[in-house]
Amino acid sequence: MNATDTIRPAGVEIAGTGTALPDRELTNADLEKLMDTSDEWITQRTGIRARRIVTPENGENTTALATRALAAALQDAGLEGSELDLVVCATMTPDMPTPGVSAVAAHRVGATGAGAFDLSAACSGFVFSLNTAHALIAGGRYRNVAVIGADILSRFMEYTTRGRSTAVLFGDAGAAMILRASDDPHKNLIAQAMHADGGGAQHLYIPTFERDAQAYGDDTGLPMSQLRMHGPAVFRFAVGKFPQLIADTLERADLAPEDIDHFVCHQSNQRILESARERFGIPHEKLRVNINKYGNTVAASVPLVFHELRTEGRIKPGQLVMFLGFGAGLTWGSSLWRV
Ligand code: UT7
Repeated sequence: MNATDTIRPAGVEIAGTGTALPDRELTNADLEKLMDTSDEWITQRTGIRARRIVTPENGENTTALATRALAAALQDAGLEGSELDLVVCATMTPDMPTPGVSAVAAHRVGATGAGAFDLSAACSGFVFSLNTAHALIAGGRYRNVAVIGADILSRFMEYTTRGRSTAVLFGDAGAAMILRASDDPHKNLIAQAMHADGGGAQHLYIPTFERDAQAYGDDTGLPMSQLRMHGPAVFRFAVGKFPQLIADTLERADLAPEDIDHFVCHQSNQRILESARERFGIPHEKLRVNINKYGNTVAASVPLVFHELRTEGRIKPGQLVMFLGFGAGLTWGSSLWRV
């Protein structure tokens, strides 16, 4: 379709999903051999038992994971790459500052007529991309849009005692979703929110230059290009903002917590998810936790959870699904859909 045509669709549907996980698994027991940590410490504080890590020598990088996830989502949606109008990739770990992961992934799946751009909003990146893609389809200029979340944090940390405060938390992954203009007015995004507070930027960042690290008061002694995180500060931010975000999104849609069929949440810490579950009385089957298997996969975590639910047949037509992300920036956002 020519991007200058505007035919506003009746609805927007989630037409397909796909994922790409590295083969290499690092369990807590593996980490115990690499650094001074314990399965007990990691499990009790985070709920994580294992994570996947790329093997760069095998050509696994962010672009490769994004491409595999995109190809799988296209197949699931029954679409050819050439039918895509736009590819958006949420990532904070592109293989290079330029070109964008999205452009190369689009090329590799034959999406030669599509536009492509990367969106950087850390763990909120997928939700922000979903909202952006929806707006472009709803505006009538795009019909088939791929949204990818792909991140490889293993490149930005070290698996030693010095790096243990972050190395145990993160995993590598890619996951994608195909959004499509629909004639069905019941399938659509019905409320969304996107927020940022750069005043909290120093709580979670990857510096390239010493002067930037110094400006954020860095005292970690870590080399440049390694992730710095003030865990307790991010924890407080997440536990505070997460329930507020759910409450605001419900209010925007004039809905109650019990109306929502699935809360598809960014997986950063099981304790953060439990706090929201308790606050709103959300039953376990409505808030999937898979951090135990994959750790925190940044932009990939939200679509990874959704894909898991979808392939198990738990996402039914007409259900209400609230996607929620929060992370570095600081950023936080939601996307509420009737699927
Ligand atoms: O995607 C969004 C980004 N991330 C998050 O949402 C993460 C939010 N924060 C958290 O999940 C938690 O803060 C952590 C799980 C990261 C840390 O838990 P915590 O209870 O806040 O621990 P802490 O950072 O206060 O560290 C407590 C102790 C320290 O030792 P001392 O100073 O009390 O002697 C750390 O040195 O635990 C030590 N520690 C470890 N011990 C064993 C830190 N990392 C490890 C480790 N193994 N891997």
